[in-house]
Amino acid sequence: AWRLGDFADEMIARVREQVGSDRVICGLSGGVDSAVVAALLAKAIGPQLSCILVDNGLLRKGEQEAVVREFSDHFKTDLHVVEAEEQFLRVLSGVSDPQEKRRRIGNEFIECFKAEAAKVEGARFLAQGTLYPDVIESGAAVDGPADTIKLHHNVGGLPAELGFELVEPLRDLFKDEVRRLGLQLGLPEEIVWRHPFPGPGLAVRCLGEITKEKLETLREADDIVVGEIKAAGLYRDTSQAFAVLLPVQSVGVMGDSRTYENALAVRCVNTDDFMTADWSHLPHALLAKISTRVINEVKGVNRVVYDISSKPPATIEWE
Ligand code: XMP
Repeated sequence: AWRLGDFADEMIARVREQVGSDRVICGLSGGVDSAVVAALLAKAIGPQLSCILVDNGLLRKGEQEAVVREFSDHFKTDLHVVEAEEQFLRVLSGVSDPQEKRRRIGNEFIECFKAEAAKVEGARFLAQGTLYPDVIESGAAVDGPADTIKLHHNVGGLPAELGFELVEPLRDLFKDEVRRLGLQLGLPEEIVWRHPFPGPGLAVRCLGEITKEKLETLREADDIVVGEIKAAGLYRDTSQAFAVLLPVQSVGVMGDSRTYENALAVRCVNTDDFMTADWSHLPHALLAKISTRVINEVKGVNRVVYDISSKPPATIEWE
């Protein structure tokens, strides 16, 4: 019979020992860490698992559908999808300050998650995708300014007030070990090698005030950027690649008419640890293709710029 790797076997045994016969809730974000936690729990205690995916309306193109599909293809567990786009757009309406956007998204996420979790009867545990570097970083943040540069919010950061005991099976692992575990558990490469995506999602890539229309524009452009990088075979050679919609209009020309539309930035970085990063030296032909396609295909964008800032002093995300 097909066997999981020893590593996965050991992790499964540990989860079973901690959880016993109780019910576990697990948040899915579309990211690698939560996918691996969910896969591990599904193998270890499948029928006792309930997963919750909050669609905050800030996900990438087709992301909710992809997560649901990938997940139900691999596991037969209870999955709750919370359609919360309208709520999030409402609390973000009129807000352009980056920290305030993050704060509101974080609070709304907790509210949504809490409400859905309350519908799961008899849950005792909450599973989180905390990794070893998160454990170190949050310890370090006590006497450093690290966590005040940007308010971070994760599926891995729900407050104790929810009243669950935590299951954090990845607490001792680094990212490469999480990927190895994911592969051993049978997750597809597409999930295991997915670039990180921030909890506040497209909100921190749609600069200034958020509207549904701007998000739609950004989603289309981002899909082209990532699609072309994948088509060029460079997705795994970059650490993160995405589009940022700038709150800047500039003059252009289309046919014989003048346009006055938004500028879009392409951000693509290489990094080992996300604490420092270099901008990716992508081939000019690829950048040209991205630019041509975005300007021709995405309504409302007439200019594309490439971000050539390294971290520090710039950060990877623009907000
Ligand atoms: P920055 O922009 O600080 O980002 O250079 C470093 C890494 O962290 C990700 N990031 C986040 N991840 N919640 C997350 O889960 C967040 O609020 C958040 N903000 C930034 C960012 O995408 C990059 O990988």
